[in-house]
Amino acid sequence: MRDLSGRTAFITGGASGIGLAMADAFADKGMRLVIADVNKAALDQTEAHFKQRGTEVLSMLLDVTDRPALEAAVKRIEAFGKLHVVCANAGIPPSGAKVAETEPAKWDRMMAINLTGVYNTVHYTLGLLRAHGEGGHIVITSSMAGAVAASPIGDYVVAKYAAVGFGEVMAWELKPDNIGVSILMPGTVVSNLSGRPPEPNPTAMNAADVGKRVVKAIEGNELHVFTHADYKPYVQARCDALMAAFGESAQAGFKEPEQVMAMMSQNAYPPKG
Ligand SMILES: NC(=O)c1ccc[n+]([C@@H]2O[C@H](COP(=O)([O-])OP(=O)(O)OC[C@H]3O[C@@H](n4cnc5c(N)ncnc54)[C@H](O)[C@@H]3O)[C@@H](O)[C@H]2O)c1
Repeated sequence: MRDLSGRTAFITGGASGIGLAMADAFADKGMRLVIADVNKAALDQTEAHFKQRGTEVLSMLLDVTDRPALEAAVKRIEAFGKLHVVCANAGIPPSGAKVAETEPAKWDRMMAINLTGVYNTVHYTLGLLRAHGEGGHIVITSSMAGAVAASPIGDYVVAKYAAVGFGEVMAWELKPDNIGVSILMPGTVVSNLSGRPPEPNPTAMNAADVGKRVVKAIEGNELHVFTHADYKPYVQARCDALMAAFGESAQAGFKEPEQVMAMMSQNAYPPKG
């Protein structure tokens, strides 16, 4: 989506950190904003911030796990104006346990917010993106933890890997609607994710830089969006290991049925054309 000016973006978890930075970068481009968050105080501050900037803004107290609330939000967004950009960004940090030892309640909460929350956000707003026929863009905030498995952040890794799959499948499913998808996969970014005030960390990336990177990704319709090149060797090692693991199967010579391969050639990532 080349021209963002005058378009409307919906951002979950938009009252802090990366979501707020995306909102700021969108406002720089002259976009209108719908900001959703569960943190009322941060939401009020965010609304005041954008009103002061002269940006048209609608803020809503919304939990991405609450489907009836999302359905109601869709009606309010529709009344606010045509929707072109959806950012499924709200998220919580890892519980810090070894993956199989994660407490069931913490596991369920992780999946409900960091994975199903992403699905919910897109599922309920997709109709608004399609309604005007002008195309649009969806941003999924995954993480570097969506491409590199690490401990003890396993519950977070599982949700973020799955969010990557969700985005990659959508990239080809939504191509006929001219709706692009970007999967944001940052390393450490200064934010409130830990629940504590951000510690000064001269090596962590500023959220503002991530916000600007997202604008570029939307304008260039980039699918995978990396921000931290330091992780390249880890992603490379994982890709190499996956490819090497095919060795045995190539020797065995088994073939996938032709109709399955025909389906893959039409519908598998990466999107054609
Ligand atoms: N900060 C990092 O280092 C980093 C790195 C990679 C990915 N991420 C991802 O970026 C996204 C944004 O996180 P952040 O770092 O800006 O943290 P943050 O805590 O500053 O912002 C997250 C926002 O999401 C909101 N939120 C939490 N649960 C919600 C829910 N159920 N419904 C609606 N809003 C909810 C919070 O109130 C908060 O305002 C998350 O998905 C996170 O996993 C962060």
